[in-house]
Amino acid sequence: MVLTVALIGSGAIGSRVAELLDAGTAPGVKLTGVVPHGDAGTGFSFEEAMDLADVVVECAGVGAVAEFGPRIVSAGKDLLVTSVGALCEASLRKTLLDGGPGRTFLTTGALGGLDAITAASAGGTIHRITVESRKLPAALVQPWMDGEAKDGILAATRPVELLRGGPAELIRAFPKSTNVVSALALAAGNWEVVEAVLIADPAAKQTSHHVVAETSLGTFDIHVTNHASPDNPASSALVPHAVVRGLRTLANANGSFI
Ligand SMILES: NC(=O)c1ccc[n+]([C@@H]2O[C@H](COP(=O)([O-])OP(=O)(O)OC[C@H]3O[C@@H](n4cnc5c(N)ncnc54)[C@H](O)[C@@H]3O)[C@@H](O)[C@H]2O)c1
Repeated sequence: MVLTVALIGSGAIGSRVAELLDAGTAPGVKLTGVVPHGDAGTGFSFEEAMDLADVVVECAGVGAVAEFGPRIVSAGKDLLVTSVGALCEASLRKTLLDGGPGRTFLTTGALGGLDAITAASAGGTIHRITVESRKLPAALVQPWMDGEAKDGILAATRPVELLRGGPAELIRAFPKSTNVVSALALAAGNWEVVEAVLIADPAAKQTSHHVVAETSLGTFDIHVTNHASPDNPASSALVPHAVVRGLRTLANANGSFI
């Protein structure tokens, strides 16, 4: 049986996923089309995606998860989310995870170790998870920062801690940096145990995440340094491959880590 897939978003992640699927890297998975942004005509539409696809993959951003996600799952189609940060919003999270009849899957994205944290959450207790993320200062400048704050971050010659707090604080202050924290909270099944530390590091050549998960079944110390996507320096080159891996598993789990 062939698993038919539609994509929403054709930026750094979506266009690479499309290339990989068209190249046949996921046997049993067929790309039916890419839903365009706004009026960009590609000869494919969201309605066609609903007709043709078993799974719709969101590679477009938090707004697109809110715009399309509920319609996808209520139509009985499966949704694979890359903008996992969208699930920080409690009512959208409930709609997507508790609604249906379609299922919502979450990519492991730029992170490793979510399998171990999910298993520990199912069989034990997650005491605490800290995630220290380092990014280049320019990637962390926000519209709410005043000129002095922006200049200070951009001129930093050593690492500067910009935030230490839970998912809610991170969402308020750095809304584009929520995917990792959201993924960890979802894996833990608890939004209270995750603390994020966000560091602007002028020496950071790549984005890195250092996760320490203290659980009743062990301590997982995970350090991931991601190469940037060649098409979007703010995105990770690993994510399209994580998406394709997920689709391969959905199509044929034989031999997969699950
Ligand atoms: N889970 C993870 O670890 C992880 C890591 C990196 C990025 N992401 C998420 O993946 C998303 C995509 O990343 P990217 O690097 O490809 O971004 P990108 O900016 O390169 O591409 C996003 C694309 O989506 C399109 N788009 C936006 N809204 C749309 C809509 N409503 N309908 C159709 N298309 C729409 C844009 O036009 C653009 O082409 C990011 O927004 C981010 O939230 C997740």
